[in-house]
Amino acid sequence: MTPHIEAKKEDIAKTVIMPGDPLRAKFIAETYLKDYKLVNNVRGMLAYTGNYKDTKVTVMASGMGMPSIGIYSYELYKFYDVKNIIRVGTCGAYTKDLDLFDVILVNACYSESSYAKTQNGCNDEMMYASSPLNFYIKEASEDLNKHITIANIHSSDVFYKENDNFKDIYNKYGALACEMESFALFHNANVLNKRAACLLTVSDSLVKDCKATTEERQKAFTDMIEIALESATKLC
Ligand code: HPA
Repeated sequence: MTPHIEAKKEDIAKTVIMPGDPLRAKFIAETYLKDYKLVNNVRGMLAYTGNYKDTKVTVMASGMGMPSIGIYSYELYKFYDVKNIIRVGTCGAYTKDLDLFDVILVNACYSESSYAKTQNGCNDEMMYASSPLNFYIKEASEDLNKHITIANIHSSDVFYKENDNFKDIYNKYGALACEMESFALFHNANVLNKRAACLLTVSDSLVKDCKATTEERQKAFTDMIEIALESATKLC
């Protein structure tokens, strides 16, 4: 047990699929996992472990933002011997080239966050996903015939910004979309010599006026989840 996770060590799989929202973790377990059980409920940050096509997988929520995913990913890697964390989240598009519900596989993320500097003095402003994990995720997307866009993104500390400088971030760092967690997750994986990746579904756009039905949102989310779970079957 850790301060934030009550699961027994043997109840956490080597690969963790990590949505932000605890109810999404519940949905994934109920929809896709066989013989799943609830292994964490501290602060309602639900975690379930079960089998996907005979591969043991844990699905655990991260909460929103870098401090939150920073805590859970660090504890999973360091104290539960987790090898792979695949974040599955949503993002806001910075370019008209992205449509609502497009699925992005993150290559690298830029952030102005102080997370890495505070964590271990690292001054990097770009963090990279694990190449082996991205390789298997890309392969899984091809197996399932689901299109993904491999892209750089922006990991922001702030959702409601008065300072709307996203065009500068798009131009300087090639960030096509914005979310709030990958930078801390990738940093923790680097520090602890583990693997991290991030799949994102475009849920809104800063440059296009678009609306979606609940059904469309759910479908897009399931595409991303199926890619993440399929890639988990390829990992050790
Ligand atoms: N900004 C930050 N995080 C997000 C967004 C956004 O526009 N959309 C989904 N997650």
